[in-house]
Amino acid sequence: MTAPRPWVNPLRDANDKRLPRIAGPSGMVIFGVTGDLAYKKLLPAIYDLANRGLLPAGFTLVGFGRRQWSKQDFCDYVRGAVEKGARTTFSENVWTHLAEGIEFVTGSFDDAGFDLLRDRLAELDVARGTGSNWAYYLSVPPDFFSTICHQMQRVGMATPAEGTDAWRRVIIEKPFGHDQESARKLNAIVNAVFPESSVFRIDHYLGKETVQNILALRFANQIFEPMWNAHYIDHVQITMAEDIGLGGRAGYYDGIGAARDVIQNHLLQLLALVAMEEPSSFEPAALQAEKIKVLRATKPEYPLNKTTARGQYAAGWQGSEYVQGLREEEGFDPHSSTETYAACTLSVNSRRWAGVPFYLRTGKRLGRRVTEIALVFKHAPYQPFGEGQTEALGQNAVVIRVQPDEGVTMRFGSKVPGSTMEVRDVNMDFAYAEAFTEESPEAYERLILDALLDESSLFPTNAEVELSWSILDPILNYWAEAGQPEEYPAGTWGPRSADRMLARRGHAWRRP
Ligand code: BG6
Repeated sequence: MTAPRPWVNPLRDANDKRLPRIAGPSGMVIFGVTGDLAYKKLLPAIYDLANRGLLPAGFTLVGFGRRQWSKQDFCDYVRGAVEKGARTTFSENVWTHLAEGIEFVTGSFDDAGFDLLRDRLAELDVARGTGSNWAYYLSVPPDFFSTICHQMQRVGMATPAEGTDAWRRVIIEKPFGHDQESARKLNAIVNAVFPESSVFRIDHYLGKETVQNILALRFANQIFEPMWNAHYIDHVQITMAEDIGLGGRAGYYDGIGAARDVIQNHLLQLLALVAMEEPSSFEPAALQAEKIKVLRATKPEYPLNKTTARGQYAAGWQGSEYVQGLREEEGFDPHSSTETYAACTLSVNSRRWAGVPFYLRTGKRLGRRVTEIALVFKHAPYQPFGEGQTEALGQNAVVIRVQPDEGVTMRFGSKVPGSTMEVRDVNMDFAYAEAFTEESPEAYERLILDALLDESSLFPTNAEVELSWSILDPILNYWAEAGQPEEYPAGTWGPRSADRMLARRGHAWRRP
């Protein structure tokens, strides 16, 4: 007979890791709160967290910006964002409670507005019980990081009073620099004011359920890991394809391009999770150490004119809609050489991955929106079936479907029913939508909550950011000298050079 379990509150057992933790007393200041990201993602995520009961009772949200807004004006703005973007059902009760803690402070990044802000936060600590625990979300271009951090330091907002266990954290958004050198400078600026342990860099891909599932898939199971290496895997394809164009983002995107926007962060983080060794624990330091190790071993393959590809979308048919090309997009310099498609071949120089190319690609205005990681296996060492019997048999694959149809597919050959022995590719699918009734939280929900909880596993460190740039820099330098990117019609799968990049090794991109 097993001993009876001591009584625990079944709703909230502190030791039960299946239950989400609630953030302790705290508040958040958002800089750049009138921007697109705050409106579409951050404000709805904060409401959803409140609605799920994961924020503390006195949670306080402070917007800081130039507008002459009253508390009511800002509340109306937040409510608009929430009604449009929240994933959970709108509840007047939850909203009323949250709105009590919504405040706006008027000021610009380079004036005495920060003195007002500091004083207001101190008042709110008393009125709302935020415990002097503040997270500062810099939802602004990195050019402003330095000014904002220095202002916070000047007015004494960056560090809590000595001898207390209050905390101050800064949450920053990419782009973390333009190359390795600028990333170093940016890190130095931020770290001069906030110690690394208080810096939370957002890579929203790490907040996605399917991305975290890479760890579960690899390390909680027995069937995958023995094959997860160069003995069995032929190559790896990591794809992040979007069907949208640049829309109103031309200003941000021109001069940045697909590689800096997506490969440097999202795709290299996916590569790190797929290729790393098993961490000794899932504590942040252990996880980050493995990611750093694998990023350090990752290098571009050469020659870059054959192992990389880039393109710019031209007008074309996106489904049934005829869309304009990049050069016609409003606000975009028609002579710009910024790429909207980028692909590269990387190698991970380790015993596990020697000789296995990792192909990464991302692009706008491609055939459809899909992110996936495909591990494509070598052919069986001996094929006992005759040639005519295996014509429809490709290479086996494990495909991690990150989005939008979240799940995992295994592709292998199966006998076609009938009197002949013909083997054809089939798919075995696991779909989140069918397997689970639980809904995946939005990435920003997870990451904002983690930052409030001081749980840093899902945030890249400065070392990871700098290493990612060191992988990409040679490619970007080569492209800077290589003239205009190749055009590809919208709605297709990118430039031809991207197909040639794989064909030279007898490979082909999957058509997801
Ligand atoms: C952002 C990029 O990081 O990710 C955007 O800056 C891109 O260009 C976006 O559109 C895609 O995110 P998601 O979650 O829709 O795949």
